[in-house]
Amino acid sequence: MRGRTEKLDRILGSINANFGQDWKKTTDDVFDEVTLKNLQQLISQGIINTIENVIATGKEGNVFRAKTIKGENRAVKIYRINTATFRKLEKYIEGDSRFKNSGNSPRDRIFTWAQKEYKNLHSMRAAGANVPQPYHVHKNIVVMQYLGWRFRPYPTVRELPPDKPEDFFEKLKLSVKAYRNHNLSHGDLSEYNIINRRGEPFIIDVGQAVPDSHPLYNQLHRRDMKNLHRFWKKYIPSLRKEDLKI
Ligand SMILES: Nc1ncnc2c1ncn2[C@@H]1O[C@H](COP(=O)(O)OP(=O)(O)OP(=O)(O)O)[C@@H](O)[C@H]1O
Ligand SMILES: [Mg+2]
Repeated sequence: MRGRTEKLDRILGSINANFGQDWKKTTDDVFDEVTLKNLQQLISQGIINTIENVIATGKEGNVFRAKTIKGENRAVKIYRINTATFRKLEKYIEGDSRFKNSGNSPRDRIFTWAQKEYKNLHSMRAAGANVPQPYHVHKNIVVMQYLGWRFRPYPTVRELPPDKPEDFFEKLKLSVKAYRNHNLSHGDLSEYNIINRRGEPFIIDVGQAVPDSHPLYNQLHRRDMKNLHRFWKKYIPSLRKEDLKI
């Protein structure tokens, strides 16, 4: 055990991570050896320079704030390489013709998933939707625009509903329309995955988004619209189901 801790300590030093007192919990939990190696590669490629702080920890992945050598912030999303992650993503990759020839091992599938999130961010942004700008994908790690101020990410709408819900919702609809015009369904569009950047909606967590050739395309979008209606009618009493025919 001690040996592992020392080894992690050494590698973390080499990836310039600075978690203060929290590092032991974070590292044991989050950074397996493959992930540490992948992070080191990202740093030696000059994509990021330091890992600054933990933004969110979840079952399938974790999000960190990182900095580039120029001192710009980045959000770094790292998928966990384990069977829970693998199970969750299987039904979305299966049937997505964009990833027909990806590898078969759980690890390869998780790498494919990170590529899928990167690609979805790219397509949605190109379509004109407000999503974080993607910068890079490497193995199980996606590097994207950081939505936050200093060390604090902007809140989700669940944490901070907007002051002007009607305006906010109209802008959100423009983003949804934009990616619908490019034949994508988000697949997990709830109050947890919409960030409120000072009144501007940003849609995040697009790993599971699928194109119209996917068998779940319609079903996922219907569920997304149901979720939006359920949440937003609390803030916009006049909201009708028809307003979500997007
Ligand atoms: N680009 C970003 N900038 C700032 N914060 C972010 C960014 N992306 C994600 N976050 C923060 O990290 C949290 C988790 O991110 P995300 O929703 O993408 O993954 P996840 O929640 O692990 O996936 P799942 O919803 O499947 O659990 C978000 O709620 C948000 O607070
Ligand atoms: Mg999420």
